[in-house]
Amino acid sequence: MSGLVIVGTQWGDEGKGKMIDYLSKKADVVVRGQGGNNAGHTVVVSGKKYALHLIPSGILYENTVNIIGNGVVVDPQGFFEEIETLNKEGVKTEGKIFISERAHIVFPYHKVLDELSEQARGKDDIGTTKKGIGPCYMDKIERSGLRACDMLEDNFGEKLGNIIDIKNQIITKFYGAEPLDKEKIINDYTEYGRRMAPYIKDTSVMIDEASKEGKKILFEGAQGSLLDVDLGTYPYVTSSHPISGGFMVGCGIGPQVINEVIGITKAYTTRVGKGPFVTEQDNETGDRIRIAGHEFGTTTGRPRRCGWFDGVVVKYASRISGVTGLSLMLLDVMTGFDTLKLCKAYKCGDEIIEHFPASLEKLAKCEPVYIELPGWKEDITRCTSYEELPKEAKDYVAAIEEITGVPVKIISTGPDRAQTIIREKVFE
Ligand code: GDP
Ligand code: IMO
Ligand code: MG
Repeated sequence: MSGLVIVGTQWGDEGKGKMIDYLSKKADVVVRGQGGNNAGHTVVVSGKKYALHLIPSGILYENTVNIIGNGVVVDPQGFFEEIETLNKEGVKTEGKIFISERAHIVFPYHKVLDELSEQARGKDDIGTTKKGIGPCYMDKIERSGLRACDMLEDNFGEKLGNIIDIKNQIITKFYGAEPLDKEKIINDYTEYGRRMAPYIKDTSVMIDEASKEGKKILFEGAQGSLLDVDLGTYPYVTSSHPISGGFMVGCGIGPQVINEVIGITKAYTTRVGKGPFVTEQDNETGDRIRIAGHEFGTTTGRPRRCGWFDGVVVKYASRISGVTGLSLMLLDVMTGFDTLKLCKAYKCGDEIIEHFPASLEKLAKCEPVYIELPGWKEDITRCTSYEELPKEAKDYVAAIEEITGVPVKIISTGPDRAQTIIREKVFE
């Protein structure tokens, strides 16, 4: 039995897609446990780029079983569009992907309400992906959601119709917007239910059986730890639990299934959407990182906010997920700087802060305490072993280990599978 969790240790887009794909070659099963198609995971195989949103990144391998767990919110329209795109690109999906019967479904009113509530927040908007994620999780918690299993029942249309009646009241009377076409949604989603039927399974049982048979299971995190609804920079977060604990609830498994947690970490920091960002460089340095790292969203195309590596964030993320090793991504983007800065703590007035604080007001007052290291000029995109890296790059990696207290087991020097340095074996 071998269970590996992959989590993002920052605000998402750390390069999870690349590492999940890389490590999936050893996986029998790849499982998503939270989030939905708000995720955008880029995988580059021999120069060809794939953008995955809802479908686990293991899909690119011939014999991997891919599972969308009960904690994921599933947009059927997005799901079938993604399947179609993959098929067109020559990726087989038939018989390789399963959806939990307990997964909640994203309906058109969730997307409309995501848009309307963001508009209503005005300047205090969160900057969501508008994929209906928050409203769908709201309904789940409020106990008015519909799950994949409900789509297979004869009374699905009736149940959905009753919910649409209520949502239309909110949309028209509260927001003053146009009502949704109830009959069309019922017809479209009844048809989606028919098409989804072969994919819908009790995936908790599938994972349990795979684990008992000694299969290798990779748990694919979406988003990042600082976007966790409990432990992130609330309210500038997503509505799920993108930390290792999220997989237990989101897949219906016990903790004994997991024996390794790899934290995916950018060599710098980015975030999309609003919210605090202590090491942000809203200046030439940030622009330089954005251009070198192609920091534009996979899902929304928005330019990402960029800044120096924030060790307080990664140390915090490593603690809350029990991270056993880091995979340091996009190290090549740091090439060419004369001096590199790494934040080791925050200073708030006279107080030195080493543990990421909860209060946004306090965070807004925090100044980064940096250590500065000399940069390197050599191209590192062809380095395939740690020894080949320039001394300055090795020192940069060592500083990250020192600040976070976690070993850097993998280093990535480019988007392709081949541009990966393994320092310590993972998922063996
Ligand atoms: P995810 O959401 O965590 O899967 O990350 P994204 O795919 O949204 O963003 C990461 C971006 O960095 C993608 O465009 C990847 O192809 C790219 N990438 C991943 N690792 C590296 C790396 O080591 N170097 C460079 N230059 N790009 C990388
Ligand atoms: P991957 O898996 C980066 C952010 C949004 C917004 C906040 C809430 O590619 O790392 P939501 O639509 O989830 O209600 O938006 O969360 N966000 C992400 N940021 N990467 C992601 O996923 C994200 N998924 C959501 O930008 O700030
Ligand atoms: Mg992404």
